[in-house]
Amino acid sequence: MKKLNVAVIGTGFWGRNHARVYRELPSTELVGICDVNAERAKIVAEQFNTKAYTSSSRMLKNKEIDAVSICTWSTVLAKEAFKTLKAGKHVLVEKPMATNTRQAEQLIKTAEENALHLTVGFLMRFIPGLQHIRKAVEKKEIGELVCVTAKRVSQWPERIGDVGVVKDTAIHDIDVMRYISNESPTSVYAKTGSMRHRQFEDYAQLMLTYEDEKSAFIESNWLTPYKTRTLTVTGSDAIMRLDYITQDLWIESAKESLQPRYPFNEPLKLELQHFAECITEKKKPIITGSDGLEALIIAEAALQSSARNRMIKLRH
Ligand SMILES: NC(=O)c1ccc[n+]([C@@H]2O[C@H](COP(=O)([O-])OP(=O)(O)OC[C@H]3O[C@@H](n4cnc5c(N)ncnc54)[C@H](O)[C@@H]3O)[C@@H](O)[C@H]2O)c1
Repeated sequence: MKKLNVAVIGTGFWGRNHARVYRELPSTELVGICDVNAERAKIVAEQFNTKAYTSSSRMLKNKEIDAVSICTWSTVLAKEAFKTLKAGKHVLVEKPMATNTRQAEQLIKTAEENALHLTVGFLMRFIPGLQHIRKAVEKKEIGELVCVTAKRVSQWPERIGDVGVVKDTAIHDIDVMRYISNESPTSVYAKTGSMRHRQFEDYAQLMLTYEDEKSAFIESNWLTPYKTRTLTVTGSDAIMRLDYITQDLWIESAKESLQPRYPFNEPLKLELQHFAECITEKKKPIITGSDGLEALIIAEAALQSSARNRMIKLRH
C-alpha cells in the first residue's frame, strides 16, 4: 500500500510528537518538517530523518506532500492552515484552530472549495474510555444524562504565551462536552481571571447549559502545582468517571462498580492514524472543521461572559 506523504509545520513541544508518530506509523511517510526556529528545525529533521525547512511556503511547494499537521503557536495556526489548504494539502490543525471564529469559518470554506480534509486536534476523542462514555450516554446505560464535570488543572506551561487557559486548555473539555452529549450548549456562563499570568486568564470556570436543562461544568487552570485531568458524567442511574492521564474508567451504579479496561494506546497515534486513513479511504473524519468552529464559538462566548459578568446565549 502506498504511504501517505506528510509534513509538520511547527516542531516545538507538540509538533515534535506529530513528527515522531508520523515516523512510527506504517501508513505515513514524513517527508518534511518546518519551524521558523532554524536550529529547532534542523534538530528535529535530523532526529526523524527528514528534510528541514524554515519557510512553510517553500516546503508546501513540494508536490509530494499530501497532508500536513499544523502545530505552530496558537495565534499562527489559521494562517499556516490557510496557506496549506491553498497549496492543495489536507490539514490537521491543532486546537484552538484559529484566533477567532471568522478565521475558522474561512478555513472550513477553503477546505470545502478545494475538496480537502480539515480536522482539528481534539485528541481526547481518541481515548477509548471517552468513546465508551459517549456510547453509554447515547444508549442511556446510565439513565438520563444529568450533568458532566471536567477538571483540567496544572501549572502554566510557560511556552504558551499567545492565548489564555480557555482557548488553550478548557477548549478540550468544551469539545468533550459536545462530543458526549452529541449536541451543543445553548448558553454559557463563565468566570475567568488571572493570578500569575500578565496577559491572559490563567483560571476559568465555565458552566454550559443545554436545551433540556442539563448542564456541564469545566474547571481549568494553570495554577495547580500538580496535573489533574478528569471527567465525571452523572446519569440518573449511574456515574462514570474517567482519568485522562491513566485512562482509567469507573462506572458506579446502585448494583455494581465496574472498571472496564482498554489496551493503552497513545491517543496521538490513534488521531494521526485516523487522519491518514480518512484521506486515503476518503472517509469523513471523526472531528471536522465545524467541530473546531463550534468549540471556538463557545470559548469566545465564555470569555465574553466573564468580561460582562452575564450569561451568553449561543447561536448554532
Ligand atoms: N491537542 C493537544 O493535546 C495539544 C497538546 C499540546 C499543544 N497543542 C497545540 O499545539 C500547538 C503548539 O504547541 P506547543 O506546545 O508545541 O508550542 P511550542 O511553542 O513548543 O511550539 C510551537 C512551534 O511553532 C514554531 N512556529 C511558530 N510559528 C511558525 C510558523 N509560521 N512556521 C513554522 N513554525 C512556526 C515555533 O518556532 C515553535 O517551535 C498549539 O497550538 C497548542 O495549542 C495541542
